[in-house]
Amino acid sequence: MNLKKEYIEYLSSSEDFSPEYIKNSIYKGKILVFRNFPQIIEINNLCKKYFKKILKKELKPFLSSKDQTNIGLEKLIFTLQKEIKTCKLIKKAFSSFLENIKFEIDDTFCDKITLRFSPEKNVNPLGFLKPVGPHRDTWASNVFHQINWWFPIHDVDKDYSIFIAPYYFFKKVKNDSNNWSFKLYKKKGESLSTPVSREKLDEQKKIKLSVKFGEVLCFSGNHLHGSSIGLKKRINIETRTVCSKDPKKYKIPKNIDSNNKKKKYEWFKSLLDNSSYPDV
Ligand SMILES: [Fe+2]
Repeated sequence: MNLKKEYIEYLSSSEDFSPEYIKNSIYKGKILVFRNFPQIIEINNLCKKYFKKILKKELKPFLSSKDQTNIGLEKLIFTLQKEIKTCKLIKKAFSSFLENIKFEIDDTFCDKITLRFSPEKNVNPLGFLKPVGPHRDTWASNVFHQINWWFPIHDVDKDYSIFIAPYYFFKKVKNDSNNWSFKLYKKKGESLSTPVSREKLDEQKKIKLSVKFGEVLCFSGNHLHGSSIGLKKRINIETRTVCSKDPKKYKIPKNIDSNNKKKKYEWFKSLLDNSSYPDV
């Protein structure tokens, strides 16, 4: 069975699809790839503009350069990451993209929109978000109707992008969620950004994705996924959303292996007015 054919579906801005179709697909474990949405291209171009302003170089030569990472570069990556996280234009464009695919914006709560820098193999990672091994986001958030959004700001080949392993969507995986602490992660370096798998995954079960500039991956936070590290650098944007009505409207994934029961609703803020998730 071809895993990509079984699990991945491409949806273009010119096609008509309902939010119900999107949500039902996601909560069943499908991986959707949205294509040709101008708001995503706008976000990518804004990121490239900030990159040039802060690093004082073009993105393309930087990505193919063989420079070793260093403290000076790390400072610049931190500055870039802060700029992206606080950029109102990026948030507005992302919100407009979700409106375009008919998400109810007054019921959509979004985590911070963040930039992740992954260097080549055997080079030290830099910045706030380091490449990370196999994990479910739900091991950290315990919010099972969480939807993940992931897109590179340049074309990425499958060897240095993201992998997702749908085989494990309904299967228990040993993990360290019982020991993980968000507080320790925030106190730099004392914990990873998420709990991770304690099992070695079957390589054959991983879907390694090539993703083009302008494409966005959309998948359940319950999917086991992680960073692929290859011979080239990668910069991507990622965030997560939660719609409060979804648990009543859809069959959402169940907790099968998270041992950290605290739900982190406080990470998600309304795209309409920045209010908190209605934690009921
Ligand atoms: Fe993740």
